[in-house]
Amino acid sequence: FPAKAVQGELIKYSQIGNKQFKIFTKAGDVVDIDALANKGLKYKANPFLDELKGNHVRVGLLFLNPSMRTRMSTQVAGRNLGMDVIVFNIDKEGWQLEFGDGVVMNGNKAEHIKEAAPVLGSYFDILGIRTFPSLQNRAEDYSESYISEFIKYCGVPVVSLESATRHPLQSLTDIITMKESLAQQPITPGKKLKIVHTWAPHIKPCPQAVSNSFCEWVNAWGKADFVVANPEGMDLAEEFTKGATVTHNQEEALEGADFVYVKNWSSYDWKGEYGKNYDAPDASSWLLTLDKLKNTNNAKVMHCLPVRRGVELTDEVLDSDHSLITTEAGNRVWAAQAVLSELL
Ligand code: CP
Repeated sequence: FPAKAVQGELIKYSQIGNKQFKIFTKAGDVVDIDALANKGLKYKANPFLDELKGNHVRVGLLFLNPSMRTRMSTQVAGRNLGMDVIVFNIDKEGWQLEFGDGVVMNGNKAEHIKEAAPVLGSYFDILGIRTFPSLQNRAEDYSESYISEFIKYCGVPVVSLESATRHPLQSLTDIITMKESLAQQPITPGKKLKIVHTWAPHIKPCPQAVSNSFCEWVNAWGKADFVVANPEGMDLAEEFTKGATVTHNQEEALEGADFVYVKNWSSYDWKGEYGKNYDAPDASSWLLTLDKLKNTNNAKVMHCLPVRRGVELTDEVLDSDHSLITTEAGNRVWAAQAVLSELL
């Protein structure tokens, strides 16, 4: 959707059919990431600053997949703005949705997105949607057809609650969390900020959305030396990492890091396969330990949660002063509040 900025507004207007409205799906929808993060921090300092701004505004949050943080933080954020927020777990409580064009619906999918989206758009002023990737078909996942179809047919502003390839509310939160941490504990004057995103082991294939988005947002933010470390063959799509240094040596990557962002992702193209869990013999050697952090600039450790203790991150790191993880999850409210406020 072609987007354009309007002076004084932090989220762009997108051209959708013959209408123009704001959507929040990627870094490119934002005019100024730093300013939007500052807006989140302003709400953290004063949650009820705009408590009447959302009066008589209805927000619908639609989940096709599980969530704790995104669901609860966006509800709290909307309520801080005086909005009425309604959650619909479509996957469990609604009709199964068909997104395909021209499909004869004689299977188990009872409702088409072409009807469901405009109906929901008539009930709500803003809609949020979470749609995970299948991890079966890369071209389909990377086309982002589900969220795009939804935006096309609902006719109202949309906030992504995590789509097949991106998680923008998480990434805005991550920028807010790093800015807040730097304000409390500035790095040595003259030292360039270093952010490392490292791959972590897992027991099953996970989406690439959080990692893609983190790369996209840190690159667009442009305030740091940014390094992505992962096993050979597990590189993320270049469209997201472009601008970062990609390495397969975790020890080298961690040297002098100020923030270490830990997350597993499944393969984009490992041995020609998409959506596979990297389970080569060296996988467990990527687990972050306190010992590895000695090589950093007393780095803060981040993760989007949920995290599997002992698999993705060690207890010793999670329970140490290095961890910013629960503060980060708390900041989900302020990111969502800044975005909902700008979508109005
Ligand atoms: N980080 C995150 O999006 O958490 P949930 O899946 O619980 O919403």
